[in-house]
Amino acid sequence: MNLPSTPAVPRFAVVGASGFIGLRTVELLSDRTDCAVVPVVRTAASLAVLARQRLDWRIAGLLAPAPLAAALRGCSVCIHAAIGDAAQIVHMAEVAYRACAAGGVRRLVWLSSASVHGQDCAPGTDEASPLHDRHPLVYNNAKVRAERRLARLARDRRVEVVVLRPGVVFGPRSRWIADAAADLAAGRAAWLDGGRGVCNSIYVDNLVEAIRLAATVPAAAGEAFLVGDAETVTWADLLLPIAAHLGRNATVFHEVATAAITPERESRFAALTLTPAYARLTALVPARAKRLAKALAAAWATPPPPPNPWSFRGAPAAKSRLTTELTLLQRCRWKLPHAKASRILGYNPPVPFAEGLRRSLAWVDFAGLGRPPTT
Ligand SMILES: NC(=O)c1ccc[n+]([C@@H]2O[C@H](COP(=O)([O-])OP(=O)(O)OC[C@H]3O[C@@H](n4cnc5c(N)ncnc54)[C@H](OP(=O)(O)O)[C@@H]3O)[C@@H](O)[C@H]2O)c1
Repeated sequence: MNLPSTPAVPRFAVVGASGFIGLRTVELLSDRTDCAVVPVVRTAASLAVLARQRLDWRIAGLLAPAPLAAALRGCSVCIHAAIGDAAQIVHMAEVAYRACAAGGVRRLVWLSSASVHGQDCAPGTDEASPLHDRHPLVYNNAKVRAERRLARLARDRRVEVVVLRPGVVFGPRSRWIADAAADLAAGRAAWLDGGRGVCNSIYVDNLVEAIRLAATVPAAAGEAFLVGDAETVTWADLLLPIAAHLGRNATVFHEVATAAITPERESRFAALTLTPAYARLTALVPARAKRLAKALAAAWATPPPPPNPWSFRGAPAAKSRLTTELTLLQRCRWKLPHAKASRILGYNPPVPFAEGLRRSLAWVDFAGLGRPPTT
């Protein structure tokens, strides 16, 4: 989109600008006068919300370097907030690096995740803790491999890479808030050990502040940073105010028994979607047919769910809502530190947890979440 030229301020591209974090990053950075924001999305449909602002947005495929490099031209920083399946996450890291190098982008801010350390990380974990890719969740392993891929690529020093590892990013439009409200409304809210586990929360505006610092602080180049809220927060601290807001209390949470975790299986088909042959083939197929084929492939490739390892006291197993991810998260007993981010980036979370939650609950009302489901 062609807009009148603005005074010379650095241009920050936000790749995946239509997502929860990308959208908020665009909203907050576009209010500033010391940078200009260039949202990059993969399709015109992804502009539904962004198009309400006067922005120099671009549409580009995120899975091939050349179109992304063209979209990034003129930007000094690329903030990567897109996601895909496990194979795509790793591939996107390489594409982003190569596109930045080709497009003349100086710095890539890569949104990784605290889950590279596992959702239930060992006490004492920090950025210096060694990473491995044998986690039970394929997402975690993909995030580890993406970080490794970037570290390898960055050896040519064509682009500075800064990695951010946020934990549970919450706020208006977040799935953590929406899912909790939906579970409460449907009477299937659950927790482990009374919600005593540590929730490594970060309010989305605090993450955007960390992103801005990662984009601008020279000493951040080549570093990875854990980032979180100032407070140590439990899952009960997050979930009980949502319940109270919806007129419920602690008694509505089904206590689930902790159980062995079944590792997820990686899809054997995901990597196929990254091959040039697949790209050539799909370019010839109409979008509706593609959607249908993807749905059929997913149904075929998805193995039948394992027997549910958790059971509610007094509730049918079919209502179980603690996913493997949530079970691991709620087992966590360690508040991940952001001392390194404070020291090098000058990160100091501007929004207190309680205020972040207040704004999230205002959104719950606005979005009409928490109403009982209609059948
Ligand atoms: N949310 C969290 O709690 C959290 C925590 C830690 C780390 N992170 C990381 O932060 C980043 C952003 O997360 P988010 O919660 O904002 O995700 P999100 O809301 O799901 O947004 C994902 C973005 O990626 C795009 N996208 C999805 N699939 C794609 C594909 N196959 N090819 C190209 N683009 C694709 C989406 O575009 P469309 O709108 O077109 O679908 C959207 O712009 C991710 O890397 C995630 O791993 C998130």
